[in-house]
Amino acid sequence: MNLKKVVREVVAGIKPYIPGKPIEEVKREYKLKEVYKMASNENPLGPSPRAVSAIKKALAGINLYPDGSCFYLKKALSAKYKLDMENLVIGNGSDELIVLALHAFINKGDEVIIADPTFLVYKLAATLIEAKVISVPLKDFQYDLVSMKAKITKKTKMIFIANPDNPTGSYVNNKQVAEFLKALPKHVIVFFDEAYFEYAQNIKDYPDTLKYLNQGNIIVSRTFSKIYGLGGLRVGWAAASKEIIGYLNQVREPFNVNTLAQVGAIAALNDKAHIAKSRKLVEKGLKFFTQEFKMLDLFFVPSAANFILVKVGANSKIIYEKLLSKGIIVREMSAWGLKGFIRITIGNSKENNLFITELKKTLKTGNS
Ligand SMILES: Cc1ncc(COP(=O)(O)O)c(C=O)c1O
Repeated sequence: MNLKKVVREVVAGIKPYIPGKPIEEVKREYKLKEVYKMASNENPLGPSPRAVSAIKKALAGINLYPDGSCFYLKKALSAKYKLDMENLVIGNGSDELIVLALHAFINKGDEVIIADPTFLVYKLAATLIEAKVISVPLKDFQYDLVSMKAKITKKTKMIFIANPDNPTGSYVNNKQVAEFLKALPKHVIVFFDEAYFEYAQNIKDYPDTLKYLNQGNIIVSRTFSKIYGLGGLRVGWAAASKEIIGYLNQVREPFNVNTLAQVGAIAALNDKAHIAKSRKLVEKGLKFFTQEFKMLDLFFVPSAANFILVKVGANSKIIYEKLLSKGIIVREMSAWGLKGFIRITIGNSKENNLFITELKKTLKTGNS
C-alpha cells in the first residue's frame, strides 16, 4: 500500500519536531565521558528532592490506574494560587494543554494567531487540526501584541502568547497585556503559555494573568518541567473559567496524567528550597552570560527565562558541532528562522564556564 496516498495531507506536509540530541547518543558518537545538556531548558540542579522521595513512596501503587481527576494536585494548586479546583485542569505536560485547547475550540479553517518565531508546538498542533495559522513576526525579538491584535478577524478563535517566550526569552509586560486584552472580541480565546513563569518572578512589570481569568476567554498554562525539574514526568496545568475547563475536560483522555507525575508535582510545588536555589542559579548564570557576551561583542536577547538566545555568526552550525564534539549540547536556531543564533540553557557554574571557554575557542579559530 502506498501510504503517501493514505496519510492525511496535513500530516504529510508537517516538518517533524526535532528534539535535542540525547546525552547517551552524544557520548557514544563523540567518545565522551561527560556530556552537558544545555539544549532543552531543563533544570541543571535535577528534580525537586521532595518529588523524588514522594515518587519512591508511590512506586508500589502503580498497578492501579492514576486518579483521572488529579484531585490532590488540583487541591494543592488551588491552595497555592487561590483558585477554585473547578478552574484547573492538569495535562501530560503543558504541551498537552495546548493540544486540548485546540481540540476543544478549533474547527477546520478557524484562524489561530501565533508569533514567528515562537514555541514550535502551537503551529504543529494547530496545523494538524487544519486550523489556518496566522503568523505575526516578532518585533525586536519581542511579541508584537499590537500587530497580533490587528490580525483578529471574525474567524479568529485562539491566540497563543508564550510569556516569557521561547526561544527568545523576552517577555510582554503587564501594560502590554492589559492593552491587548482590552475590548478583545468575545469569540477569541487567549492562551498564555507561562512555562517559564517562575523564572520571571523577580521582574517588576511581568503580568499576573490569573487575575484576568474571569474577565474573558483566557487560558493560562504552567509546567512542572522547568523550575521544578520534572520534565521527564510530563505534567503541566492550566487555569481558566469553569466553562473553558469543562470543555478541556471533555476532550481530555481519562487517565492523561500518570500517578508518579501527580505525586511528584504535589511534592515539588511547595519545595521552596529547590525553587529558590534553582531561581538563584539561573539569575547568576544569566548575569555571567550577559557579561561574557558583552565582552565578546555578541548580540543577545535579554532573557526572563532559564535560557538565552545569542548570535554567534554565520557559522552557527559549525560552532554547534564543535561544542557538541566537546560534549556541550546547545540548540542551533536555523530551524526557527534565526540564522546565526544558538540558544543555551543556563547550566550550573561548571557547565556555564565550560560553554564560554569552548565558545571563545571556536570564535578565535575564525569559526572554521
Ligand atoms: C514556551 C513553552 N511552552 C511549553 C513547553 C512545554 O512544556 P511541557 O514540558 O510542560 O510540555 C515548553 C518546553 O520547552 C516551552 O518552552
